Amino acid sequence: MNTPITARAHTNIALIKYWGKKNAELIIPTTSSLSLTLDQFYTDTTVVFDEQLTHDELSLNDTLITDNTLTKTTAFLDLVRQMAGIDTFARINSINHVPTAAGLASSASGFAALAAASSKAAGLDLDRQALSRLARRGSGSASRSIFGGFAEWVAGEDDFTSYAHPIQENVTMDIQMLTVVLDGSQKKIGSRQGMQHAIATSPFYNTWVAESAVDLVAMKQAIANNDFQTLGELAEHNALQMHSLNFTAKPAFTYFNGYTLSILNLVQDLRRQGIQAYATMDAGPNVKIISQSDATQVICAAIKNNFPNAGIEVAKPGPGISYL
Ligand code: DP6
Repeated sequence: MNTPITARAHTNIALIKYWGKKNAELIIPTTSSLSLTLDQFYTDTTVVFDEQLTHDELSLNDTLITDNTLTKTTAFLDLVRQMAGIDTFARINSINHVPTAAGLASSASGFAALAAASSKAAGLDLDRQALSRLARRGSGSASRSIFGGFAEWVAGEDDFTSYAHPIQENVTMDIQMLTVVLDGSQKKIGSRQGMQHAIATSPFYNTWVAESAVDLVAMKQAIANNDFQTLGELAEHNALQMHSLNFTAKPAFTYFNGYTLSILNLVQDLRRQGIQAYATMDAGPNVKIISQSDATQVICAAIKNNFPNAGIEVAKPGPGISYL
């Protein structure tokens, strides 16, 4: 205690998506999901418990935070305090190397880094499974960011059985994600609210649960076979199924905007030209293009040709949690 601990967690992008909870309080999902952790986007979080403090103090990218993000952080730290048997408040400094809330899953790296730093700062020594369970309580997708490479979050039934585990931490496949940022604004509908609305009102929700189990088995097989094409086809199909739930919710909503559809069209055009490129989208308008290294130049050129203002980041498989 009283020693600052810094942890780094990388974000992850789901290839088989998580979109709905069967237990909202414990964050137990309706389906298992599978992701790739990325090297380019990460969060560094330092936590120190300090007897002098009268409340938790959070700074995000060097700005003091007092809104709802602080409330969520305090609720999360209450879990850590309960586990460690302490009641001391903490000072948290978090630097996000992820465009916050633009659909690039900053909550995944954020809560994974917070779980690792705060538990250690509180004197706990959690293994990675316990860290994954703890990170899950902050944000479901954070459970997967404890691990590098391909990780699966097994839905489970309760707090003890719902955690992520590595499928392949040192990725052997040539795979990368090109993040195309055309809209850096904050998402209008948070993923928590969006998935809850889809589960409650989309008539296709049960079909999604069944189909995503089938996709997951095929995805694990594609990874084991080093089969990039099957992986890409499955990921794009699964993402579009997830977004279809939002289109079929009542009232309908979508994270897509015009750019999203334009990039989806461009990816299809590239495939018609024989270039292996596949798209995946999360709770925001920006598209991630799943591709291989020899296609980087041609894909970037095609994007720049059509969207000179597009920001493009090329991310490769990244590592799991680490302490700095
Ligand atoms: C579309 O993990 O942000 O990125 O558990 O409510 O915090 P909460 O949701 P969150 O949802 C991520 C949804 C997704 C798909 C995915 O990452 O699997």
